[in-house]
Amino acid sequence: MDPDADALERSAEAALRPGTLDEFVGQRVVRDQLDLVLKAASARGATADHVLLSGPPGLGKTTLAMIVAHEMGATLRVSSGPAIQHAGDLAAILSSLDEGDVLFLDEIHRLARPAEEMLYLAMEDFRVDVVVGKGAGATSIPLSLPPFTVVGATTRAGLLPAPLRDRFGFTAHLDFYEPHELRAILERSAGKLGLALDGDAAAEISGRSRGTPRIANRLLRRVRDWAQVHGSGRADLAAARQALTVYEVDERGLDRLDRAVLGALCTRFGGGPVGLSTLAVSVGEESETVETVAEPFLVREGLMSRSPRGRVATADAWVHLGLQPPADALAGETTRRLFD
Ligand SMILES: Nc1ncnc2c1ncn2[C@@H]1O[C@H](COP(=O)(O)OP(=O)(O)OP(=O)(O)O)[C@@H](O)[C@H]1O
Ligand SMILES: [Mg+2]
Repeated sequence: MDPDADALERSAEAALRPGTLDEFVGQRVVRDQLDLVLKAASARGATADHVLLSGPPGLGKTTLAMIVAHEMGATLRVSSGPAIQHAGDLAAILSSLDEGDVLFLDEIHRLARPAEEMLYLAMEDFRVDVVVGKGAGATSIPLSLPPFTVVGATTRAGLLPAPLRDRFGFTAHLDFYEPHELRAILERSAGKLGLALDGDAAAEISGRSRGTPRIANRLLRRVRDWAQVHGSGRADLAAARQALTVYEVDERGLDRLDRAVLGALCTRFGGGPVGLSTLAVSVGEESETVETVAEPFLVREGLMSRSPRGRVATADAWVHLGLQPPADALAGETTRRLFD
């Protein structure tokens, strides 16, 4: 249930990616705003403002970047923060841009500092200073660039330095999807895969997808596998339930690791508080995996909370595991509700 994708999954995803803003499901506000930005720019015959997309993995940042290029009828150029090690790498990309091109910079928070500075000059003034030679004899030659649009994507908007963030004319934050939006995405994906998907099966899968289209599409492929091998080939409710049981994804979208973490927290540490590293060791995982893969979802679902003294299970966590919550977990819950 990792919201990140590996190489194999990325190729499966390419086939399911919506190509236009109309096909893009959900994120109503962002879609309407982006639609205006792009239409206004087209009407003026200008290139669109720079766009920054932020949000957790698998919610559609790359998809939207491709849509921007498509809607503007522009050529898409793709690179990413980690791929640009030196300012020179960026200078090479920038100086090869044509008028109106869309430059997609994924993981833009991971750009090296000198490249970052070059980028915000280029975004503002459409100019780069190319340094020729080394040491005392080095000279910098200003090079002007044709107007272009940067689409930056980041899972960590907070890590972007303010001067870079300010160069974006439009910033959009993507949020987790509602179940009915995920259902619409699943139905669209099933259509593309040539898979018959029943409405109740789509609802079942969407409820377990953690608000994330990437996970929804991944579970759909597993359900399709199950239906082809054990079922009628049709993705009906029984196939969805059986497949998700095989892959150990429960009704709330928790996987084996999530349940192991919660289980250890409740049964071995009395609900906490317990430190992250102790918790990780007790489920045989790296601290980082627990912190980046399991924890964000458990906290968001209200199953776990973080306190200065460590991780704590909420009353909901005990109930989800079929256990009786201790009195203090219930008391904590009541206080929280009173103050919410
Ligand atoms: N609104 C949407 N409608 C339909 N499909 C979507 C939508 N958003 C995302 N998807 C699907 O989810 C998958 C993942 O989306 P995408 O690659 O754009 O995520 P991302 O935000 O770039 O993730 P990462 O941070 O890992 O790069 C794609 O295959 C895409 O088809
Ligand atoms: Mg992406």
